[in-house]
Amino acid sequence: MTPPEFELQEKYRNQAQMLANKVRKRFKHLRKRYAGQNIEVFRLYDWDIPEIRAAVDWYAGYLVIAEYTRKQTTPEWLPMMGAAVAEALNVPLEKVHLKERFLGGREGIRYERLDYTDQRIVVSERDLFFYVNLCDYVDTGLFSDHRNTRQLVREMADGRDFLNLYCYTGSFSCYAAKGSARRTISVDRSETAIRWARENMNLNGICEEGNSLVQADTFDFLKKAKRENQTFDLAVVDPPSFSTSGEKTHDFDILEDHPMLLAAVVSLMKAGATIFFSTNHQNFMPHLDELEIADAKEITSITIPEDYASKKKTIHRCWQITV
Ligand SMILES: C[S@@+](CC[C@H](N)C(=O)[O-])C[C@H]1O[C@@H](n2cnc3c(N)ncnc32)[C@H](O)[C@@H]1O
Repeated sequence: MTPPEFELQEKYRNQAQMLANKVRKRFKHLRKRYAGQNIEVFRLYDWDIPEIRAAVDWYAGYLVIAEYTRKQTTPEWLPMMGAAVAEALNVPLEKVHLKERFLGGREGIRYERLDYTDQRIVVSERDLFFYVNLCDYVDTGLFSDHRNTRQLVREMADGRDFLNLYCYTGSFSCYAAKGSARRTISVDRSETAIRWARENMNLNGICEEGNSLVQADTFDFLKKAKRENQTFDLAVVDPPSFSTSGEKTHDFDILEDHPMLLAAVVSLMKAGATIFFSTNHQNFMPHLDELEIADAKEITSITIPEDYASKKKTIHRCWQITV
């Protein structure tokens, strides 16, 4: 080993030690906090130490460790961090999944498949269950930063017609159905997401009748729903930052296009209805003034759970819009 290589290894070893100490402490605290609520998925670390650019997530005895890649480390960095965290929490290495996350990347990169294992585990969140796949995609199937928002949806769902746009694996819809929504409609253009959402609904004993899953482009769905005079009292709109259009004429960019998207959603909502709108774009500026609504308030401080309250970055922002 050359002297610079030795120095680098020494630096990595120190970082691994710091990360392990931090995660061990955090786990002790969070496991106690969430065990009582039957929450098995939570974040243990999110770039809290500036030079350790990673996120560490606990999934019911498994670990997902993602490096926020900037190509500033050599390939052994992430495995070293993974091994240190695994040892600190007594997790066998075969239950540790290492990933790279590209910051500011377009959604295409984010949704690319990493592997084809199709291995899934079931995790619980309160009294609900969800399938997660820790190997095959960057995202696992459950965005646990929105578990409080899901609970808000459940509390408001009784007797409501609920629309879930960009539904992904349907976790918001499962909560709405459990909260006695009159009907739920979940829309996503990905066949995999729609199948997964159906499986999550089955897992939670939610019947197909009254809980539709629609594989469609959001804007195509919105146009069709308008033509059919469909209306809703509760909606979740959680789009990706960037998405190609079904019509291939105009790509969706959250920064510019959220007013148009929300106007189309508002036009389907009954008077007094509620829309939860969320984005994880890091430089988002809301333009909600032109919407024909009664009120819009940012509720990010309520929707971000304790384990995601990182000072470094806001995992998502969320608005409650009253029509
Ligand atoms: C950030 S995820 C949504 C997360 C989801 N709300 C949740 O809480 O689990 C984005 C989803 O949008 C879907 N999507 C992207 N572009 C779309 C489009 N134009 N129409 C419909 N769905 C789209 C993707 O397939 C993906 O499932």
